Amino acid sequence: MSISERFAFFSQVRGNFEETGGIQPSSRYLAEAMAEPLRRFRITDAITPVRILEIGPGTGAITRAICTCMGPQDELDCYEINEEFVRYLVGAIQKDEVLAPVAEQICIHHAPAQELAKGDRFDFAICSAPLNNFDAATIHAILEPMLAAVTGQGTATLFEYIFFPALRRTFAQGVLRTQLREAQSEKSQWLTRCGRSSMLVLRNLPPARVHEFGPFIDY
Ligand SMILES: C[S@@+](CC[C@H](N)C(=O)[O-])C[C@H]1O[C@@H](n2cnc3c(N)ncnc32)[C@H](O)[C@@H]1O
Repeated sequence: MSISERFAFFSQVRGNFEETGGIQPSSRYLAEAMAEPLRRFRITDAITPVRILEIGPGTGAITRAICTCMGPQDELDCYEINEEFVRYLVGAIQKDEVLAPVAEQICIHHAPAQELAKGDRFDFAICSAPLNNFDAATIHAILEPMLAAVTGQGTATLFEYIFFPALRRTFAQGVLRTQLREAQSEKSQWLTRCGRSSMLVLRNLPPARVHEFGPFIDY
């Protein structure tokens, strides 16, 4: 991860922590864990083209892990709410040694995940929107269309930092406490309904848990 990438990320954290949600881009270990279902698929099937959705690419840490697994006919759609990150990523896909070779296959939407087109279908969805910073309605508005967009055999992954959300819930008071508990309950319902497995990634700052969802046959 380059110094300029760290700087680009941190410049957005300062004014916009709730939405940016982290203190630095994801580590290689977290990025690889998020793209693991796609990597597994490519081991068994190197040919079938797939559509991939990425929510919240930021400066592209996870995008790079996705791109290393992409076949020549795969398509990647990225939804990013932050204009500066969109600008950074548009520049990066022209010159980054991992992104540039598949630049033609990447479409960057400067839009929130909530605006995902109804009826759009993907084989893999990878979400790093900081759900623990959002209220229950926003979590629902992001997860419902994202999980509905993943086709039957597809897989979705999302991550959350460990420890800090629970700490925040413990010490929050009044209305904020209620909001955080409602948000936690909304997220837990989705995990119970279509979560399949989870994995701890300690080599990230902060450490994170990756949740895998799917397949969505009964969804
Ligand atoms: C924790 S950062 C992760 C960035 C990058 N994927 C990484 O792992 O380094 C969260 C990202 O989600 C984006 N984001 C937050 N809310 C979003 C939304 N509703 N729709 C799309 N992107 C969103 C933020 O702008 C930011 O880029």
